Amino acid sequence: MKTTYGGNLTIKNLNEEVTLYGWIANKRKFKQQLFIDLRDSSGIVQLVLTNVSDPLLTKESCIKVKGKVQKRLEANRELKSGEVEVLVEEYEVLNSSKQIPFEINNKNSATANEDIRLEYRFLDLRQEKMLENLRLRHKLLLNVRQYFDKNGFIEVETPILAKSTPEGARDYLVPTRRKGRFFALPQSPQLFKQLLMAAGVEKYFQVARVFRDEDLRKDRQPEFTQLDIEMSFGGQEEIFALCENMWSEVLKPLGWNIKTPFPKMDFFYSMEHYGNDKPDTRYGFLIEDYSKELSTKYNKKFVKAIVFDRQVQENFAIINETFKKNNGQHLDIVEFDKLSDTEKALFKVVADKEKINTPYVLISANDDEDDALKSLGAIRTLLNDLYQLADPNQLNFLWIVNWPMFEYDKETKTYAPAHHAFTQFEESTVKYLETGELNKVRAKSYDLVLNGFELGSGSIRIYDPKVQKKMFDILGISEKEQQSRFGFFLKSFDYGLPPHNGIAFGIERVLMILTQSQSIRDVIAFPKNAKGVDLLTSAPSDVTKEQLDEYGLEVRK
Ligand code: AMO
Repeated sequence: MKTTYGGNLTIKNLNEEVTLYGWIANKRKFKQQLFIDLRDSSGIVQLVLTNVSDPLLTKESCIKVKGKVQKRLEANRELKSGEVEVLVEEYEVLNSSKQIPFEINNKNSATANEDIRLEYRFLDLRQEKMLENLRLRHKLLLNVRQYFDKNGFIEVETPILAKSTPEGARDYLVPTRRKGRFFALPQSPQLFKQLLMAAGVEKYFQVARVFRDEDLRKDRQPEFTQLDIEMSFGGQEEIFALCENMWSEVLKPLGWNIKTPFPKMDFFYSMEHYGNDKPDTRYGFLIEDYSKELSTKYNKKFVKAIVFDRQVQENFAIINETFKKNNGQHLDIVEFDKLSDTEKALFKVVADKEKINTPYVLISANDDEDDALKSLGAIRTLLNDLYQLADPNQLNFLWIVNWPMFEYDKETKTYAPAHHAFTQFEESTVKYLETGELNKVRAKSYDLVLNGFELGSGSIRIYDPKVQKKMFDILGISEKEQQSRFGFFLKSFDYGLPPHNGIAFGIERVLMILTQSQSIRDVIAFPKNAKGVDLLTSAPSDVTKEQLDEYGLEVRK
C-alpha cells in the first residue's frame, strides 16, 4: 500500500528517499529542469527532473517517482509541502493522459462548462475543491452516525424496491417480471419509519437514499440523501432539541459554531414579511404591507413594498422578469425623492428603522395577496444574489412553525396536504374541518430553514385510526383506495401504534450551503444534470427488445 503522500511532505522529511505516486497537475520547463506539480489525495508537491524531455509526461498523467526530499530555494506558502521539493532520480509513466477536455483548477471548480465536467466526472473530481466536498460529506455523515448512536438511536435500512409512498412528486417505477406489476423507488422512508415505531424501535434514524421524479432546481436532484429521523413518545420540543444539538455537535468539529436553541418563526409571519416559507434571515429588507394607504392609488387590492438601500435601475430587466415569473402584476421602483410627501412619511418609518439614507422603494401591487407577497419575496431573494446582502460565512438556522394543514391549488381547485397526509391537526383548529374552512386548519408540522433553503421538514404523526381515516376522506381518497394503497400501514393503527413524530433533512442541501456551492451537483460524486440526465453514463438509455419482452412492456414512440 502507498504510505508516502507528496502533499504531506515537510521540512521534517528533508533528505529522505521517497517513492511517490500521483498525477501531473502542472509542469513548466526552466533551462535543463522540468518542474512538475505532483498531485495526489493529500495535495501537491513539487518535483524536479533534470534533463528529461518525455512526451508521455503530459498533464494529468499518472506517474511514479523515486527521489530525495530537498529544501526549495523559494518556499511556496500556498502549499502544505511548500518548503520542500523532490529531486527525482527515477520515474515511470504509469498511464499517460490524453489532452484533457478542460483545465483542472485546483482552487475553484466552477470554471469549466458543467456538461463537460459531468461527462468527464472522474477528471472533475480531481479538483481539490471537489475532493474536499466529498471529504466533508464523509465526515458530516460520520459525525451524524456517532451523534445518533450516542443518543440511543439505531440506523435501520428500509426497502428501495417498495410500494409507492406519496410525498408529492412523481414516482420512479421499476417494472418486474410479474407482468404489469411495478415497484416504486421510495420518495422517502415515511411509512416504513412509522411502521418501525409500531414495531417498538422508538428511536430510528437512517441515511436514506430517496428518489423523486420532479422538476429540478439548483437545490434539487432526482436522487438524493435524507437524514431521516423518527421517535416515539416525544413532542415537538424534544425533536427540536435533538436536532439543534445534532447540528451543533456535528458541525463543531468541522469548524462551525452553532448557537442553540434555534429561533422559531410563524409560517404566516414568514409569508407576510419574506414572501416565502424559507426566509433568509441573514439580511433585512423585509416586506411591509401598505394596502390600506396605497390600494386606491394602484387600483389593486394589495400593495406590499420593500424599502431598499440602493438604486437597482441597472438590474431592472432581471428584477422585472423574476417579478412576472412569480405572478407579479404591477411593479413600481421609485426613488425616495420622487415620492409624494405622504408616501415619503409612510416609507420613512422603515428607512429610519433600518438606517437607510437614500432609500429606494420596490412596490408590488396585486389583486391576490399571495401573489403580491411571493413576487416581492422572489425579488428580495434576487437582490441578495445581485448585491451579496448576506454574509456567506454565517449560518442562520430557523424553525418555521404553525403551518397550514392544506395547500389550495388554484388551478385544480383542490386541497393537498402542505406536509403530508400523516400529519396531525392542531387541535384548536379541528373545528374548521366541520365548517369546511380547510384553509384555516393548522398542522403540527415544522420545517428547519438554513440561509433561505428548506433543510428539513417533519411533523407530529397521526396515530388514531379515526383521524387518519378522516384525513384520507378529506383528501378524497376512497375507502377502497385507502386499503389498496395504505392497507399495510393502516393495519398498524389497530395494534398499539404509539404516538410518534419525526423529520428528514436533505444532506446535499446542508453540504451545498456549507461549501457555498452554486449547485447541489457539486456535493454529489455522480449527479444528474439539470435535465435529470446522467451525462457520464448516458442514462437513462434504451434497453433491448428482449429486456422489454421479459417485462411485458412495449415502448410507444
Ligand atoms: P420532505 O419531502 O420535505 O419531507 O423532504 C425532506 C427534505 O429533503 C430535502 N429534499 C431534497 N433534496 C434534494 N433534492 C430533492 N429533490 C429534494 N426534495 C426534498 C429537503 C427537504 O426538507 N418524509 C418527510 C419527512 C418527515 O415527515 O419526516 C419528507 O420526506 O431538504
